[in-house]
Amino acid sequence: PPPMSILEVGGVPLPISSNEIWDKISKFEARPDDLILATYPKSGTTWMQEILDMIQNEGDVEKCKRAISLDRHPFIELTFPFKKKYDFEMALEMPSPRLLKTHLPSHLIPPSVWRQNCKIIYVARNAKDCLVSYYHYHRMTTLLPDPKSLEEFCQKFMSGEVAYGSWYDHVKGWWAAKDKHQILYLFYEDVKKNPKHEIHKVLEFLEKTLSEDVINKIIHHTSFDVMKKNPMANQSTVPSSIYDFTVSPFMRKGMPGDWKNHFTVAMNESFDKHFEKKMGETTLTFCV
Ligand code: A3P
Repeated sequence: PPPMSILEVGGVPLPISSNEIWDKISKFEARPDDLILATYPKSGTTWMQEILDMIQNEGDVEKCKRAISLDRHPFIELTFPFKKKYDFEMALEMPSPRLLKTHLPSHLIPPSVWRQNCKIIYVARNAKDCLVSYYHYHRMTTLLPDPKSLEEFCQKFMSGEVAYGSWYDHVKGWWAAKDKHQILYLFYEDVKKNPKHEIHKVLEFLEKTLSEDVINKIIHHTSFDVMKKNPMANQSTVPSSIYDFTVSPFMRKGMPGDWKNHFTVAMNESFDKHFEKKMGETTLTFCV
């Protein structure tokens, strides 16, 4: 299939096929008990989905498995070309409590989400690893255009000319939104470093308690090595016309700092300079 068509909404390039679809998405009716997972692409969305699934099913792996990979947490916005229905339309038919995901920047979230005061978990990942992961994702999927060289992709990432727009605006927008709404703002690197601590934060946010045994089970089941072998998580059920796993696996490295294996010294210098300009003023800091 050809790459997804990109529509510019509020200055942000979104993989949405028409203004008409966007109109429907912005009128999406959230329910008060929806839990929304928001991320910039390649920031650990699938990982947090797995953690939230395990929490919802109290560590019962079999119950988690019963859900079908991509269909279990509909995107509010994503319009995959290979399905009969758009993801956000599937969400309309789901029983509560729904777990929905989105890559939308905070200013484009359907207003009903704020109106209903839904709980939102945002996961942010440091820009360099996110960029490298997004680059490999562009290489392996027909949904997105060919990224060409890493240098060329880096320029596009810095100027926000990629699907879902500027990483800088995304993480900053959600960082500001967390002071006004029920948002738990997490970092990929923290989950990697201390999953137990971050899972406890999620439990507290969801007003849920689980035994230490169940929490340990969740940590094991959502570790990179276990998820890499899990077809519900490693996306191996996605047709090969969409994902070419011979180019790159979906569960690629899962390591903070992988950017060091990709960035040249020159690229790193210009990236850092630009980063400082974009992020110098914010209280938001990342562990690189
Ligand atoms: P890499 O390409 O750096 O390996 P998303 O789900 O938002 O598309 O993010 C995908 C990224 O999260 C990939 O990063 C993937 O390997 C990583 N990831 C997925 N599951 C993970 C896990 N259990 N632990 C660490 N990283 C994980």
